[in-house]
Amino acid sequence: MTDVALRCETSAAWLPAALRAFDAVLVDHAHCEKKACANALSLLQAYPGVPGLPAAMARLAREEAAHLTRVLQLLERRGLALGPDGGDPYAQGLQALVRTGARERQLDRLLVAAIIEARSCERLALLGSALPDPELRRFYTELARSEVGHQRLFLRLAERTHGEAAPARLDALLDAEARLLRRLPVRAAIH
Ligand SMILES: [Fe+2]
Ligand SMILES: [Fe+2]
Repeated sequence: MTDVALRCETSAAWLPAALRAFDAVLVDHAHCEKKACANALSLLQAYPGVPGLPAAMARLAREEAAHLTRVLQLLERRGLALGPDGGDPYAQGLQALVRTGARERQLDRLLVAAIIEARSCERLALLGSALPDPELRRFYTELARSEVGHQRLFLRLAERTHGEAAPARLDALLDAEARLLRRLPVRAAIH
């Protein structure tokens, strides 16, 4: 298992909606990078004893903070304020699937992070292929590539610490993610 194989594609309605309201997408994107950074530090705080996890999460937090800085620069150039975090029903829907037992919770947190990275990768690549501005296209293509690395990192940590339980649980979570995506409305946001 090296990659998260998502079970449904993003709706064809998403990209035109995102391009039409790209400023809103950009603000949401900044909040996504902020949450990715915070989640890496939260995993480091929760699981210091998992071999390799603290160093990997420290590196990841730095990378996500660098993404956040660059998205904030784009907001500033466009005269946009960050504003409050409007929330992410997609990520919240996945977090709600995290089980409560300590081992189960650890596995689910790693796998949910892997799935969110994989879905973000799909969406960022779509923006990278369709935005009218070549600089923005390059930026989103580069970010999509780094999300591929992030989903692999979470998957590797899940497999290394949970063995056979990891692919079995990923299978169930991927079905749930596809159901969730079909249920949620299309928004001018990363998810
Ligand atoms: Fe990122
Ligand atoms: Fe990421």
